[in-house]
Amino acid sequence: MDRIRIRGGRPLDGEILIHGAKNAALPLMAAGLLTDERLILSNVPLLADIETMAILLAQHGIATDRIGNDGRILSLGGPITSTLAPYDIVRKMRASILVLGPLLARCREAQVSLPGGCAIGARPVDLHLKGLEQMGAEIRLDGGYVHARAPAGLRGADILFPSVSVGATENLLMAASLADGVTTLANAAREPEICDLALCLTAMGARIDGIGSGKLTIEGVPRLHGAEHPIVPDRIEAGTYACAAAIAGGSVTLAGARLDHLAALATPLAEAGVELSEHERGVAVRRLDGLHGTDVKTEPYPGFPTDMQAQFMSLMCVAEGAAMITETIFENRFMHAPELNRMGARINVHGASAIVRGVPALQGAPVMATDLRASVSLVLAGLAAQGETIVNRVYHLDRGYEAVERQLAACGADIERLTD
Ligand code: EPZ
Repeated sequence: MDRIRIRGGRPLDGEILIHGAKNAALPLMAAGLLTDERLILSNVPLLADIETMAILLAQHGIATDRIGNDGRILSLGGPITSTLAPYDIVRKMRASILVLGPLLARCREAQVSLPGGCAIGARPVDLHLKGLEQMGAEIRLDGGYVHARAPAGLRGADILFPSVSVGATENLLMAASLADGVTTLANAAREPEICDLALCLTAMGARIDGIGSGKLTIEGVPRLHGAEHPIVPDRIEAGTYACAAAIAGGSVTLAGARLDHLAALATPLAEAGVELSEHERGVAVRRLDGLHGTDVKTEPYPGFPTDMQAQFMSLMCVAEGAAMITETIFENRFMHAPELNRMGARINVHGASAIVRGVPALQGAPVMATDLRASVSLVLAGLAAQGETIVNRVYHLDRGYEAVERQLAACGADIERLTD
């Protein structure tokens, strides 16, 4: 299995290209199930999760063709031939649950494997299922599968989410686009990836009001048509490389990144001594001098993203003073903390909060993590550490970061992939 080797201590300088957002691309691909016509998605990142979604869509009868030379334009289309999302595919990627709403809306039935828990928490899908029930679906759980039927079709409903869920908002937004009547989604998630989905659905003929707000109103239409849609830049990839420049020192340009999507990160980074600014090619990142301990608490957008928590923690490990990092979205998202401590960090986890006491330097070590963002936080720590760090289980990184080692090496980092 591949590993990443980093020899720390080199500042970063140069330009890093920010790709399309994985977490926008996955629901957008699921939206390909909503029409018989072709959906063309551009700026698609080249990632393992995109391949998994293409395999799942193929199982439903939807072909994903790569058009153009660089493989970043996908053309999705074909009649739905199966409404079964099998365990073998769903277990590889939780976002597979996003086919449930579209299949139910189009075919009036679906059997989708339950995704189960994952490394960062239990991650139930009850909000997805309750919302679909409110829209008239009959749902039965049996043999590890969701068996959903809506013999008379889905109908509009007023749905109030008890807590904010990105995936449930996306599933119900897609289902409601083809339901009979008007659906309201209150306390909806409003991440940029949800706006991107709503914009694509609108281009496909959906009628959606309130895009970008916490209340979406969707007037169902009988059918959606094909469309072309460019995927929004990945704010988490951009934020991760901003933290890389911050921890290694130096200055980088994040080409294609959007500063307006990074506001919740820009504020604590500024407090910590790192400046993000508008640049003609995207966003410029510059570490001013020393790093200062800064508290953050994860929250739904527009709050500080849980998907940036691990990377920010790495940064705080080498800041002057202490930082309290509170995770409110997932119950088990600190597994990077013990690995960072093996590199000489001083982190104490107390329930949902971690106290990070900055140290003058980290030391390289062999490390590994069991999720994507935790894994990349160890790469960042390696950039600042003295000596050699080997990050194992690189397949987690490949799910969400395109060529992370090439991107960082091009800016001067001493980093390479070791292939066994
Ligand atoms: C999305 O996951 C992202 N994944 C995650 O990205 C991200 O961490 C998360 O949103 C939060 O921002 C994709 O977009 C593919 P949620 P999702 O439903 O939709 C609870 C990454 O590293 N909940 O907003 O699964 C849930 O357990 C990742 O790229 C319920 O209780 O997240 C969690 O505590 C990992 N019942 C909270 O809500 C439900 O039915 C937020 O989850 C649904 C969720």
